[in-house]
Amino acid sequence: MRLLSLLLTVSLTLALAYYIYIPLPDAIQQPWKLMMLNAYLRTAFHVASLKQWLGYDHHTRSLLQFTFGFEGILKEFLSSESSAGAVPGVKVSDITFAGIPVRVYEPPAGGEGHLRRGLMYFHGGGWAFGTTKKGSYDITNRMVSDELNTVVVSVEYRLYPDAHFPVPYLDCLAAAKHFLSPEVLAKYSIDPDRVAVAGDSAGGNLAAAVAQEISVDDSMSVKFSVQALIYPVLQALDFNTPSYLQNQYIPLLYRTNMIQFWLQYLNIDLSLMPEFFVNNHSALQHSSLTPELRSRLDWNVLLTQKYKKNYNPVIVEKGSEGFLKKVPSLLDVRAVPLLAGPEVLAKCPRAYILTCEHDVLRDDGLMYARRLQDAGVAVTSDHYEDGFHGCFSLTSWPLEFDVGKRALRSYLNWLQNNL
Ligand SMILES: *[C@@H]1O[C@H](CO)[C@@H](O)[C@H](O)[C@H]1NC(C)=O
Repeated sequence: MRLLSLLLTVSLTLALAYYIYIPLPDAIQQPWKLMMLNAYLRTAFHVASLKQWLGYDHHTRSLLQFTFGFEGILKEFLSSESSAGAVPGVKVSDITFAGIPVRVYEPPAGGEGHLRRGLMYFHGGGWAFGTTKKGSYDITNRMVSDELNTVVVSVEYRLYPDAHFPVPYLDCLAAAKHFLSPEVLAKYSIDPDRVAVAGDSAGGNLAAAVAQEISVDDSMSVKFSVQALIYPVLQALDFNTPSYLQNQYIPLLYRTNMIQFWLQYLNIDLSLMPEFFVNNHSALQHSSLTPELRSRLDWNVLLTQKYKKNYNPVIVEKGSEGFLKKVPSLLDVRAVPLLAGPEVLAKCPRAYILTCEHDVLRDDGLMYARRLQDAGVAVTSDHYEDGFHGCFSLTSWPLEFDVGKRALRSYLNWLQNNL
């Protein structure tokens, strides 16, 4: 009997370890914490899929409840450290800008005629998850507001499955235009020469796209003066960049997940996913993808040898017919900011671009940094050799990572010195 329970315990332990363990690069610190977090997210994902299969709710919606439920429990633990108590001086209001829900963070007012900085933030989450109101985004934006004496506006743009491109982009653009209007800046005592746009991951995609649009819009008298892009998503035409291949199984963003987020955002049938894995969607036979456009995301030219390593470009001759005609958004710069021409990039604001070595999106960010620089824009490229996707949001106990804290500190320092 005792032997049986011993055997049972050992095999359950082994099964659990097998479920949690994933091989990680040596550079990643606190690997077990990352594995546990990854196992938790995978479980949430399975539970959500099961609920959808049983007919309860849309998968993405129940995943949202599950992850935030967990976060809520953590916050109970942390009540003294919870976001609400963290920065008492900052005034928080949930209002709308041009009809779009936003959360505004105002630092304590300065003296008469004292102008402050402004920053608009778009959160990440694959255009499907995340909110301004909870977790790390709320904490980080309060911090920026308090430490940098900045009025921060965090935008609650609509998400999948309720919205697809271009809705999230248009929500963000409308909120940005409202924010940059002289009346609103005056109302919040913001210096029109010191307004930033920032975002991480899918939010970095929205920030880059909105910054481009505002930069070339002659009707806008005030424009963003700087942009901060944290591991941004910038292109959907090549899912075989060195970083997509090198990091395809590295948490917290597997290659499959990122491709799925793209298809959901662009409202493409998920059954076409296998085509995207092999770059069939950007095959040479698609004449709308001209050599000029291709050169704008040609990592063989845009990346240095350090990042190219021994990877070879995956360029398909034929692929599937009529793809880009059926899905024109794949070539739309509002969805794919890396495709913008040099004349647009030249007008874009100074940039801070954060990239992580162990992230499928590393090369999206590196290529954009290089192209902005080539267009004459000043770029601070901040690369983390021990970084992984999501680390910027993992800065408070018990989910804090050293690399995340360094990344957040560096973002704050850059804004302090450049905004
Ligand atoms: C990619 O396109 C080719 C046609 O050029 C086709 O034979 C192949 O099955 C496609 N691959 C996938 C995974 O759909």
